[in-house]
Amino acid sequence: MQSTTRWWETSVGYEVYIRSFADGNGDGVGDFAGLTSRLEHLAWLGVDLVWVTPFYPSPMADFGYDVANYVDIDPLFGDLDQFDTMINRAHELGLRIIIDLVPNHTSDQHAWFQDAVSSVDSERRDWYIWRDPAPDGGPPNNWISHFGGPAWTLDEASGQYYCHLFLPDQPDVNWANPKVAEAWENILRFWLERGVDGFRIDVTQGLGKDQGFRSNPELRPLEAGMGRNEQWDSFEHRYDILQPETLEVFRNWRTICEPYDAFLLGETYVLDAQALRHFLEPNDGIHLGFWFEPMHLLWSPETVKATLRAPIDAVPGGIGWAMSSHDDPRAPGRYGSGELGQLRALGLFAMFCGLPGTPFLYQGDELGLIDSVVPPERFADPVVFRTGVESDSRDGCRTPLPWQPGKGFGFSTSAETWLPFGDRADRDTVATQRQDPSSPLSRTRSLLSVRRELTAAPGFVDSDVVWDAAETSSQDVVSFRRGEITFALHAGVGEAIVQTVGSVVMYRSTQSVDTELPEAPSGDSVTLQPGEAVILGPATYGGIA
Ligand code: NOJ
Repeated sequence: MQSTTRWWETSVGYEVYIRSFADGNGDGVGDFAGLTSRLEHLAWLGVDLVWVTPFYPSPMADFGYDVANYVDIDPLFGDLDQFDTMINRAHELGLRIIIDLVPNHTSDQHAWFQDAVSSVDSERRDWYIWRDPAPDGGPPNNWISHFGGPAWTLDEASGQYYCHLFLPDQPDVNWANPKVAEAWENILRFWLERGVDGFRIDVTQGLGKDQGFRSNPELRPLEAGMGRNEQWDSFEHRYDILQPETLEVFRNWRTICEPYDAFLLGETYVLDAQALRHFLEPNDGIHLGFWFEPMHLLWSPETVKATLRAPIDAVPGGIGWAMSSHDDPRAPGRYGSGELGQLRALGLFAMFCGLPGTPFLYQGDELGLIDSVVPPERFADPVVFRTGVESDSRDGCRTPLPWQPGKGFGFSTSAETWLPFGDRADRDTVATQRQDPSSPLSRTRSLLSVRRELTAAPGFVDSDVVWDAAETSSQDVVSFRRGEITFALHAGVGEAIVQTVGSVVMYRSTQSVDTELPEAPSGDSVTLQPGEAVILGPATYGGIA
């Protein structure tokens, strides 16, 4: 039987937040020259596909998620030639590149919006969402922005409001207009022809809007001092997101991608696994959708188990697993303090590596980084300036990647970087961790090598997940079996014993392991520390056929 597995299903992804990955021209901001020079490191680490965050010309009101031209490169990051060099080098190294598309909104500086705002009769007026004020002169409905405050801004010249689910500088595009869809098809083709292997789609849930523009049901009143998520969660988002029309857009995009063997990864920002079905169950639009719960997880054996199980039970496949991103505090800091948080994060990632779907690291996850402390005078994230709530800042997870000890941490030769490094230490750097077989980097690399071996072995990818598969002394061990392989994570406290009779230990997240095939059975049991994960194969495990 021929396998229907597509390349992204056996891949490990890696998010490059380009501003903070590597600075090639010494201006303190990451760029394509820097990225190209560090691709070898990613190949060495063992990732297969790299998602690059937006690099298009932009006023940078939301650091690139406000795009002023979708078919060019902002000079801050380089130019199209440097983009081509980057992608060619990636392909030489066996890495695939996916780029970030931002179709829900443009920058207010995009030529489309500039035309739209110029007059109510302009050619592109209807490319955006305009509504007359409510009878009291206020916004047309109660929709709010993800970044706090109303999702509507008054254009004084015309007396109409325009919609923006993010900043006023990011007007939402009117996807009900077929001309918008046509323009986007050309954007996709432009990048596919340049060799990209797929797209991460920003705000996948947001494109379609209720055409009656009805107000969302209010769950609780908004109060002063609420952060962005609290504000957002004060409503049931019945009319502003998750409209069925959006699926038609992705069906079409999938058809465009197929001849290029490229894929679509959705930023499916929903915290309810059932809502993921909206995108993944038809299986004719996006190929993968991110599951966001691990980025909000409050750690306990129950929540860990529920977070891993919920999407597996809800959707037929296509899950993008990630624990950190450029939008949320880094996982080790959220999961516990110090080494415990680091261990839990790597342990959870080991579980991602065994479940159906594609695991993604955010740059620095492999180093076990926690957020840097960014002092308020260096805050850059526009969200804080909008809500006034300091904990809304995404700056701490966006600070530059520390490559090596010394000034500029090998990230930049500039004395000043766009965000400070905070309190990074030598032990946080790639160079130091590469020398240390017990570092998070070495242990992550070992894990990726085991994952590569497993996904290449016959039967693994096509096997179902069987939960609670480990024989263990503790209820706090979360486990599953897939094919012949057992994955177990000690999510509680104290020690937990996992039986290993008849098995070999293929990986322990506390140890840097040899990537050679295991040779001998491992004894009767292993004792796991809190946060530790183990991968067990049968004693007869034959490895890659
Ligand atoms: C999600 C992106 O990841 C985030 O950084 C951005 O601010 C919003 N979408 C708006 O584009």
